[in-house]
Amino acid sequence: MFSVKDLYYRYPKQDKDVINGISFDIKEGEIFGFLGPSGAGKSTTQKIMIKILEDFRGTISYNGKSITEFNDDFYEDIGVSFEMPIHFSKMTALENVQFFMKLYKRNADIETLMKRVGLWEDKDKMVGEFSKGMKIRLNIVRALLNEPTMLFLDEPTNGLDPTNAKILKDMIHEFKQQGGTVFITSHIMADIDQLCDRVAFIVHGEIKEIDSPRNLKIKYGKRSMTLEYKENNHTVTKEYPLDGIGQNKEFLELLQTKDIETLHTGETTLEDIFIKVTGVKLHDEK
Ligand SMILES: Nc1ncnc2c1ncn2[C@@H]1O[C@H](COP(=O)(O)OP(=O)(O)O)[C@@H](O)[C@H]1O
Ligand SMILES: [Mg+2]
Repeated sequence: MFSVKDLYYRYPKQDKDVINGISFDIKEGEIFGFLGPSGAGKSTTQKIMIKILEDFRGTISYNGKSITEFNDDFYEDIGVSFEMPIHFSKMTALENVQFFMKLYKRNADIETLMKRVGLWEDKDKMVGEFSKGMKIRLNIVRALLNEPTMLFLDEPTNGLDPTNAKILKDMIHEFKQQGGTVFITSHIMADIDQLCDRVAFIVHGEIKEIDSPRNLKIKYGKRSMTLEYKENNHTVTKEYPLDGIGQNKEFLELLQTKDIETLHTGETTLEDIFIKVTGVKLHDEK
């Protein structure tokens, strides 16, 4: 659906590229996560993909056609949420939404959408009085106003408490279930881990890995089985290699004879894998 090939980008008047030859494809109907520390080039890439930044090098196509050949109809098709939500603070939530609705030919049902994010009751409040979480939810309403086929979400979970983050993730999931395609960035791995069909690891404008979270865990996770069992009122922990576990006599005997407390394979979190693959920490990195 979206194809990015050998993309390079340098901001005007700068002496070096911030995007250094990245390539990736986003398939129709998938949630594609773009993951990396702050300053890696996530927002820049999103802005190029939605035609806000021009003069890039490389090719980007949407449904087989170069994005440079699209006119403003492109924006009828996509929904965008930026990192820093900007609304009119001296207008009510509903007035904000109505303003942006006028920019599109196709409109979603606003009442349903605002109810879905829990903002309908606050629709007549000035946005200036909104909490950060409410502003971010309003941002999502705006991204979905034109019933887009593809969503671009830049750090949508950033600054959301767990309840709001859950609403947001459920909505992204519903959007996918209805056939939508999503590009989502984050510097907080755990936030989008379960949501994404595939993720790309980006550091210093380069992609280091692209795969499904599951494959990454299999590829980089620890191939071991850890079990904990009770013995004389103490918890004993044992770890065995996953390969040949079915023939491992010691392990099998413990399973049959001990009071097992926990039993799990040694998957690593995506965040650990990110650090392993890139050598870069996701937080506090410039
Ligand atoms: N308008 C700009 N002019 C010059 N450099 C910029 C501009 N915006 C971002 N950058 C630089 O580009 C790099 C990538 O930034 P960005 O895409 O915002 O990263 P991320 O979204 O991953 O945090 C950073 O080094 C940042 O300082
Ligand atoms: Mg960013």
